[in-house]
Amino acid sequence: MAPRFISGSLALLAMVVLGCQQTLKPVGDPVWPDRVPPGQIDFEQSVRPILEYHCLECHNSALAHEFAGLNLETRNLAMTTGRHAPVIVPGKPEDSLFIQVLELSPHHVYSMPAAQEKVEGVRLELLKTWIAQGASWPDGRPLREAD
Ligand code: HEC
Repeated sequence: MAPRFISGSLALLAMVVLGCQQTLKPVGDPVWPDRVPPGQIDFEQSVRPILEYHCLECHNSALAHEFAGLNLETRNLAMTTGRHAPVIVPGKPEDSLFIQVLELSPHHVYSMPAAQEKVEGVRLELLKTWIAQGASWPDGRPLREAD
């Protein structure tokens, strides 16, 4: 009985260790695009990584109540939550609070993201283009904070 128990535990341990190795991501900042891709912005490919990296730490279902109520996990939530909902106005990035808070000076109290580095340059242009094109956001996997 004992040996079998031990080998079972070892097998389990090995699975856990190997499993972790597979999910480990390289350390360091993600590689961001160096230009806005031409044509229609693909949410999954281009927008999801920016939001997961820069916004989901705070604007998720567990913590949104602390951050103006804004939950960015799904399109429906993003369009209906927040003290000033809707913060995204499809077709109108200039009227979208979602973009306005990114363009504030980093010293402004409402500057977003509140903690991490600013979203600027190509990433900001990409988000503006995405909203200008109608903010398409397919149903599916909710956004999660990036590791
Ligand atoms: C470290 C936490 C944190 C991160 C990360 C963060 N926010 Fe916020 N966000 C806040 C806080 C705090 C507020 C509330 C500010 C206030 O009004 O007092 C807020 C409010 C907002 C609002 C206003 C919502 C409303 O209806 O009033 C928008 C829009 C917003 N954030 C967008 C973003 C976007 C887009 C990102 C990612 C690029 C982001 N935030 C990342 C903490 C965060």
